[in-house]
Amino acid sequence: MQLQRAPAFQRGDWPALRHLSCWYVRKDCWGQGVAGELVHWAINHALSHPMIYRTEAACDVMNVASARMMEKAGMSQGALLRRYLFHPNVSDEPRDAFLYSKVR
Ligand SMILES: CC(C)(COP(=O)(O)OP(=O)(O)OC[C@H]1O[C@@H](n2cnc3c(N)ncnc32)[C@H](O)[C@@H]1OP(=O)(O)O)[C@@H](O)C(=O)NCCC(=O)NCCS
Repeated sequence: MQLQRAPAFQRGDWPALRHLSCWYVRKDCWGQGVAGELVHWAINHALSHPMIYRTEAACDVMNVASARMMEKAGMSQGALLRRYLFHPNVSDEPRDAFLYSKVR
């Protein structure tokens, strides 16, 4: 699995650390629980930090695998974020996304 840092949404004035990542699993390894296990570990590791109270991630509304994987990792679906993500391989326009989070 590859984790990539995304610089957007980082706010230096917030008292807590923020780190946004996205995840990709090699296609021939999909559906074996790889992402779910690693994201579960990463979220709980982040929430064990004394200054981190919230983890969140978003996925395209059509990305059933990513949504299911986040639920398996212990995250809950929250808001529908309208026109939130760009997926140039799907559309030239910003797309709706589901926001998931886990807090402590
Ligand atoms: C999303 C992604 C990271 C998931 O990785 P993964 O290792 O296959 O994830 P997991 O195996 O832990 O969990 C996937 C779950 O989604 C389910 N799933 C996959 N495709 C599905 C579909 N079309 N409909 C319903 N459920 C689906 C799987 O069955 C599994 O759930 P289960 O264990 O209850 O059966 C991987 O598909 C990927 O790299 N996709 C391309 C990049 C991407 O979309 N990244 C996310 C951007 S937000």
